[in-house]
Amino acid sequence: TFSLRTLRRATVLAMLLASAVPAAARDFRIAVGDGAGGTQEALGLAFVKALEEKSGGTHTAKLFLNGQLGDEQDTVTAAATGTLDFSILAINNITPFSPSVGTLTLPYVILSLEDAEKITQGEIGQQMVDRTVEDAGVRIIGWAYSGFRVLTNSKKPVTTVADLQDLVIRVPKNEIMIETYKSWGVNPTPMAWSETFAALQQKVVDGQDNPYMTVHAMKFDEVQKYVTNIRYIFSIEPLIVSEQLFQSLSAEEQAAVLAAGQEATLASGQFLRDQEAQIKADLQAKGMEISDPADGEAEFIALATTAVWPKFYDSIGGKDVLNGVLTALDRPTV
Ligand code: MLT
Repeated sequence: TFSLRTLRRATVLAMLLASAVPAAARDFRIAVGDGAGGTQEALGLAFVKALEEKSGGTHTAKLFLNGQLGDEQDTVTAAATGTLDFSILAINNITPFSPSVGTLTLPYVILSLEDAEKITQGEIGQQMVDRTVEDAGVRIIGWAYSGFRVLTNSKKPVTTVADLQDLVIRVPKNEIMIETYKSWGVNPTPMAWSETFAALQQKVVDGQDNPYMTVHAMKFDEVQKYVTNIRYIFSIEPLIVSEQLFQSLSAEEQAAVLAAGQEATLASGQFLRDQEAQIKADLQAKGMEISDPADGEAEFIALATTAVWPKFYDSIGGKDVLNGVLTALDRPTV
């Protein structure tokens, strides 16, 4: 007879079969703001490789370099609404959507690669991830480290704040960076990343700041001559996933995505350590002239920290948030 035992057996068999069905293969799209050869691409490639491994070859992803899928700030909106899967972009282009990550773009807070790794990979980084999910609908799952944003321009060597005064400088549409230049007496030109190369080429602006890795990947040496080694922002460039997409994944898939992001993050620190000196030398060989700021940058530092930090305590979630970061880095609080 058709016993209860038979029915149970059939049910167990059906369950086994169902769990053996692999998750539908996915081919995700990853927007990348910069060109080939930079830290963003390196993070992306490491992520794709790790994702393929960790999903047992089921899932893969493709990088779309040079802002092909939209300007960096626009990719945040696209990911939040679910029309884009992943994006790799500079942290300063997430700040407008999640002011709490502004702590990472406050001038002279992150002073080395080690500082950047410590904060982003620790408890504070996890809090920023959580807040960015709430504020912006995107989840940071990996971090690229790109080095200090050095100042470049086409006109003259700059070593002092006074040297800056007659230059037109492009900045991202980021209030903290705008205010930092204002503290140096300059009214900068906020402009989307996707328009920056053309603006430098057509001399709509004289200069901009970005890390050596980015200057190289974007071939800015073709349109910029002078570099000043300012260190006001250590550039951190997150890999974000659409939170809508993330929540639609199974627990195993989520775990694979997170683990792949962690692996790519570790690879990114190593990439910068291995490459930055060579990239800088290559830019010099291509004719860029590099100067250090006068007096160990003292004037730039004093003006920016005094004028800019207090303006953003509220938006980053209170002065205590900054103090938490400073304490974690063994530095005096404010
Ligand atoms: C910017 O200046 O808008 C960004 O830093 C560009 C980038 O992602 O490299």
